[in-house]
Amino acid sequence: MKGVLSLRAGGDTFTPELVEAFLDEYTKPGDVVFDPFAGFGTTLVVAERMGRRPLGIEIMAERVEVVRAKLEDPSAILCADTRNLDRLDLPPIDFSITSPPYMSREDHPQNPLTGYQTLDGDYQTHLDELAAIYRRVATCLAPGGTVVINAANLRLHSTRLAWDIGQAVSTVLTYEREVVIDWDEPPTWLTNDYCLVFSS
Ligand SMILES: C[S@@+](CC[C@H](N)C(=O)[O-])C[C@H]1O[C@@H](n2cnc3c(N)ncnc32)[C@H](O)[C@@H]1O
Repeated sequence: MKGVLSLRAGGDTFTPELVEAFLDEYTKPGDVVFDPFAGFGTTLVVAERMGRRPLGIEIMAERVEVVRAKLEDPSAILCADTRNLDRLDLPPIDFSITSPPYMSREDHPQNPLTGYQTLDGDYQTHLDELAAIYRRVATCLAPGGTVVINAANLRLHSTRLAWDIGQAVSTVLTYEREVVIDWDEPPTWLTNDYCLVFSS
């Protein structure tokens, strides 16, 4: 994969084509593909379609139900708080990709890591919690495993979210490279979108 990946946005910034491009590059059939923020299941659905073994965690029960209905193996998604990852018995992970919930630097009490349900949000705490999640992912990574985080820099309050996540997660995983996502119609709320690639 080159350093720039050109994709069609289609109203979303975590598309099946983005996931497919990374699974093509970094995985083979049978590999465990983990999404710690499974959302509506883009990663899991693409992984299953490509013959990989999907595994996801999502905090919102109604989203988990939606994803289960899309999967041949509904047990591939767990309804849990990924901050409690160390309480879950995870298999060796060959590859992880996600788009974590976003947070801007200021004026943002809604906590992304409770699905914006609580008002204890704090930017630095958010970054620290992401690092703690990936510290746990790192302990489960199979030899040669790869972690990809899709993150944008945000126009709101000049939030360098991609850089800040890159820095935070670099404390627990080895930073390898970034891939710039060249959207055909970039959303106005971001300055640029990246996939940050880490190894153990
Ligand atoms: C941007 S979406 C992820 C998109 C997803 N990767 C996909 O394939 O569609 C972020 C998701 O993280 C979930 N989330 C937020 N905090 C969480 C937590 N502490 N544990 C698990 N899921 C969480 C949100 O509910 C939301 O669905």
